[in-house]
Amino acid sequence: MVRQRAPAAPPPAIHDRNRQTWTVRDPQAHGRAVRAMFARIAGVYDFMNHLLSLNLDRRWRRHLIERLDAHAHVVLDCCAGTGDLTLACLRARRGHLLLAGDFCPEMLARARRKGLGAAHDGDDGVVRTSALLAADAQRLPLPDASLDAVMIAFGARNLADVRAGMREMARVLRADGQLLVLDFFRADPGARGCARGPARPVRWWLGATLPRLGRLFTRDGFAYSYLPTSMDRFLSVTEFVALLQECGLEGLEVERQSLGVAHLVTARPHRLRDSQTSRADVARARSES
Ligand SMILES: C[S@@+](CC[C@H](N)C(=O)[O-])C[C@H]1O[C@@H](n2cnc3c(N)ncnc32)[C@H](O)[C@@H]1O
Repeated sequence: MVRQRAPAAPPPAIHDRNRQTWTVRDPQAHGRAVRAMFARIAGVYDFMNHLLSLNLDRRWRRHLIERLDAHAHVVLDCCAGTGDLTLACLRARRGHLLLAGDFCPEMLARARRKGLGAAHDGDDGVVRTSALLAADAQRLPLPDASLDAVMIAFGARNLADVRAGMREMARVLRADGQLLVLDFFRADPGARGCARGPARPVRWWLGATLPRLGRLFTRDGFAYSYLPTSMDRFLSVTEFVALLQECGLEGLEVERQSLGVAHLVTARPHRLRDSQTSRADVARARSES
């Protein structure tokens, strides 16, 4: 019998978060390691995403786009990677100016090869423009209140300082703007409803199977043990909702996707405060599964 070696675990400093501030122990080293890892796997990223999620990632992104405000014209896809969320936006004929931002040039190069960074002639008579933006999500080179929506899919978990990233996204949003965060959250079996996070079989799949499959296809055990590790060291849904409120976001809604594998969290800037949005601060859960 051939015994498989256990997948390489990420270095301890990566994703080792302070539970009060939600920053990692060494932000510079963390940023360097995350960027280098995505640079290494950029070529196989899309294939592995679809394989390991059994294509559910496509469905989750489409669902996010369905939740995007119809009037959102200037939209940032933050931590855009190879651009699948921006492409899903274009396919759904949403937004007019789409910015795909990421701090990893190798991932953005894949996005360019998929046709992003160009004008797109829609069959609805609207010419949409996508632009690639090499930028750190925690220091966006964009003016205050300049965007209608910020979307971030599977990016929040990677940030060295989650609070700084969310504040930055709130800063660039217009008063009636919208933040949409799709990600994998830490399981919290004691919580109720969608705040529990992923169900037990999902945790098993992510923790045991995924790094081995990742290693088999990419020979990069670190990259695919990174996902369950980063998830375990990330915030639970409840903690994330509280953090967004601290960052001046409200009107929070949480949607559980596919047995809690992923969650979509939507929010709006504080500037819109009225009695309705305040009441909505109590995260509403719509369970899809
Ligand atoms: C898991 S991928 C997600 C890509 C894409 N959003 C998707 O849906 O497939 C995470 C991306 O976040 C980027 N990223 C991580 N930390 C970042 C940061 N601080 N600023 C900008 N991009 C970052 C990585 O380079 C990577 O491309």
